[in-house]
Amino acid sequence: MQNVKFRRTGHKYECVKCLKSYFTKDEAVSCYDHCDLLTSKLTMLVIGGAGYIGSVFSKTMINLGHKVIVLDNLSRGHFEQVDKRAIFIKENLLNIENIKDQLLNENIDIIYHFAAFAQVGESVKEPHLYYENNVEGVRRLLEFMRIYLNIPLVFSSSCAIFGVPDQLPLHEECSKNPLSPYGTTKLICEMMIKDYVHAYDMKASMLRYFNACGASLDGLTGEKHDPETHLIPNLINASLKKETVTINGNNFPTNDGTCIRDYIHVLDLADAHLLAGFKLLKTKNKVFDYFNLGSGSGYSNLEILETVKSEIGDFSYVFGPRREGDVPALFADNTKIKKELKIEFKYSDLKTIINTAMLWHKKLLHK
Ligand SMILES: NC(=O)c1ccc[n+]([C@@H]2O[C@H](COP(=O)([O-])OP(=O)(O)OC[C@H]3O[C@@H](n4cnc5c(N)ncnc54)[C@H](O)[C@@H]3O)[C@@H](O)[C@H]2O)c1
Repeated sequence: MQNVKFRRTGHKYECVKCLKSYFTKDEAVSCYDHCDLLTSKLTMLVIGGAGYIGSVFSKTMINLGHKVIVLDNLSRGHFEQVDKRAIFIKENLLNIENIKDQLLNENIDIIYHFAAFAQVGESVKEPHLYYENNVEGVRRLLEFMRIYLNIPLVFSSSCAIFGVPDQLPLHEECSKNPLSPYGTTKLICEMMIKDYVHAYDMKASMLRYFNACGASLDGLTGEKHDPETHLIPNLINASLKKETVTINGNNFPTNDGTCIRDYIHVLDLADAHLLAGFKLLKTKNKVFDYFNLGSGSGYSNLEILETVKSEIGDFSYVFGPRREGDVPALFADNTKIKKELKIEFKYSDLKTIINTAMLWHKKLLHK
């Protein structure tokens, strides 16, 4: 018997799951399919799930009832960050063939790829590491998918693919001239994935994050990089430890002279991954999606510093020279992702970002 997806109510059609009314049958059916996905339990392969964003994503998905398999070689991640309810496979993505049987036995619905080296400065000094790990890793994953497991892929890309913005806010079609090998590897990965989608009928979505920040609401899963180059964790640590922090540059053409960046809470990133994945799973044909994923507004370094001071406590700072390649302002045009994925950014206000990150950093300090 065919599944009943809608009901006629007068001149309208009602989705039998959420009871919303529509003018057309197709809209009601599409709503039903979406509601169905929202309540379905997926098996997700999270590559790089022991790192910052991958671990928060995994935990969020497990809390929603999905099954998560984490694949990570712990080169930059931490075993204790992996949710105990996940299946953990310690392996290098470059050797994915070694775990072929295990992966094929798991009936995986969707793949999330977070596994990359992501330090801009290191990529300038040692580009070979980045081309090997980031580009070759994705090439081997695509080969694995082409031969054995052609299922949807959501890929962590970055606003670093754009380089100096030709306009602000940055929309998806702005020109792409990465300033670092890191940014170049992300752009190459996007291009490789696009070619595979086209030739082998795959489905993939590129999420180009701006600056990820914040932690899980319980403060138990968050950002831990070595060295830490991101502003918010460094400011929070300075505040907690009463250390002096250096702000890079105070002569940019912005209101207060410091750089402006777009910060997106890691929980909003997690939602975006889920919704991008749902869209791929619902799509019948091959598809290559790409979205700029930022909150849409920028905060200057000094604005963030002042908020950290008022939320956590006073500390001193000095201005240092600009970092090479730093542009004055970078923030996303998120119209496309809001429209197509119907996402709302619930956590990306500065106070939530700083307070969730503070809980996490306090816990790290007391370990
Ligand atoms: N953090 C940000 O602000 C930001 C911004 C834009 C894009 N991104 C992208 O998001 C992704 C996640 O970033 P993050 O901050 O969580 O990084 P992270 O370094 O905390 O996590 C990356 C994880 O991938 C693992 N990994 C790396 N190479 C691997 C390999 N070959 N095989 C198996 N595991 C491997 C590491 O061990 C680590 O656990 C990266 O792809 C990064 O480029 C991050």
